Amino acid sequence: MEQQPLLEMKHISKGFPGVQALDDVDFEVYPGEIIGFLGENGAGKSTLIKILSGVYVKDAGTIWFNGRNISPQSPQEAQSLGISTIHQELALIPYLSVAENIFLNREPRWVFGMVDFRRMNQEAEALLHDLGADIPGRKMVRELNVAGQQMVEIAKAVSQNARLILMDEPTSALSGKEADALFTLIRRLQGRGVAVVFVSHRLDEVRQIVERVVIMRDGRRVGTLPIAEASEEKIIRLMVGRDVGLFPKEQADIGEPVLELRHVSGENGVANVNLTVRKGEIVGLAGLIGAGRTELARLICGVDKMVQGEVLVDGRAVHIKSPKDAVRQGIGWVPEDRKQHGLVLGMDVQDNTTMTILQRISNLLGAVKNKEAKRIAAEYVQTLSIATPSLGQTVRHLSGGNQQKVVLAKWLSMGPKLLIMDEPTRGIDIGAKAEFHALMSRLAQQGMGILMISSEMPEIIGMSDRVVVMCQGRITGEFADGRFDQEEIMTCATQFLTVDGEPLLTKEYIGEDENG
Ligand SMILES: Nc1ncnc2c1ncn2[C@@H]1O[C@H](COP(=O)(O)OP(=O)(O)OP(=O)(O)O)[C@@H](O)[C@H]1O
Ligand SMILES: [Mg+2]
Repeated sequence: MEQQPLLEMKHISKGFPGVQALDDVDFEVYPGEIIGFLGENGAGKSTLIKILSGVYVKDAGTIWFNGRNISPQSPQEAQSLGISTIHQELALIPYLSVAENIFLNREPRWVFGMVDFRRMNQEAEALLHDLGADIPGRKMVRELNVAGQQMVEIAKAVSQNARLILMDEPTSALSGKEADALFTLIRRLQGRGVAVVFVSHRLDEVRQIVERVVIMRDGRRVGTLPIAEASEEKIIRLMVGRDVGLFPKEQADIGEPVLELRHVSGENGVANVNLTVRKGEIVGLAGLIGAGRTELARLICGVDKMVQGEVLVDGRAVHIKSPKDAVRQGIGWVPEDRKQHGLVLGMDVQDNTTMTILQRISNLLGAVKNKEAKRIAAEYVQTLSIATPSLGQTVRHLSGGNQQKVVLAKWLSMGPKLLIMDEPTRGIDIGAKAEFHALMSRLAQQGMGILMISSEMPEIIGMSDRVVVMCQGRITGEFADGRFDQEEIMTCATQFLTVDGEPLLTKEYIGEDENG
């Protein structure tokens, strides 16, 4: 490209105690370009984005933007320069409405200074509608799910008329349909000369939308490829430095049921669910975002209230009334939203890892055997390749994917009979993902039952012994013996969904009784 770059970063370095997050990195973006920014967990992607958006200050290097030498010291300053960011961690204010979040400090006002709420709500709704999301402007942000909140953040960035939008894993929480809507919008922005930096671990999706990829490894830029030359293998080799095989599902002996649900219904919309997970079995729970899969997990783990039905663990009826009861029954739960339910961000890697087993490793006086805790934590840091300078690192300072691994370590250390994993590899790089899958396979071989909620079809098809599909709180299909067909699964996933009163997909109704 002969054009002048819109953004030119030169020799950027940034260190944290014990980690050189960025080491002499150059990065450039041309006007209207959509660029993929790739690399393993901890490679430095978010750090570079945060330097651009005024969250971190660089140790060294220069930044030219729009012909000017800049060094944003705050997110506000970056925004006023024309750089908007959608961060990996959602950053909305939960107790304000959708519209208030979008127009924070820029509220449309009447001539006499009062906020024009009606106009503000209407403008917010119009913006969201353009994104393919019909969310009322009045709705409180805390009432939205992760996908909804992300949409609001994107609408906010769009409304700030940015020249450059940085998206740090924007689609990791979106359904396929929502992601498509986002891509359409990104192309529309591109038409107006807006450039987008797109960070994602989903290579198939990156290939759909970007024109060029920049690849990072260990804080350094290791490659740049036009997308036409960037085969998936090539990208992975640059990112990981070796070849990786995906979905290494191995045969395991499938034994007695470890969990049985009989006609289970909950206050949270789960209706009449029958489901069995056996020892050594990986059951994939497919469906669209909002299908009720997370709600089912919350019922099993005693977070939400069950109103009807029976739960059996190892063939015995149990009453799980709280997450503590679930742990006592040997049920581990790797939740979808790791920030809220999985980790104590202010605690270090070791304490997070050993949190669920404190009793087991305490001596008679109740003091935790530090050596034992250290040994266990170190073991998981190694098996899961958690990138951390030490066991004493506060988990808040780990990269997103490595935080996810700590959540898993915490539950594995407890040695559960049944592990419920909600979107286990979301936000995890391709190398770590392959390791994760291999690990799941090994756990199943050791006799653990795994209930895996995933919105990624290749993961569902590649890793499951059996696939169960949900839609609107109900089970709408079941597939076994490797007869998994993507289209049939999607049909079940959209069973009860309608558009303007018409079924989304017409196919004969699968009766509830068939799933008993
Ligand atoms: N505030 C901080 N304090 C200490 N270390 C940090 C901090 N922020 C990032 N790091 C470290 O810097 C390195 C780069 O992290 P970064 O978040 O940029 O990775 P990433 O490429 O975005 O990874 P992911 O794909 O997992 O999100 C990691 O080793 C991380 O632990
Ligand atoms: Mg990141």
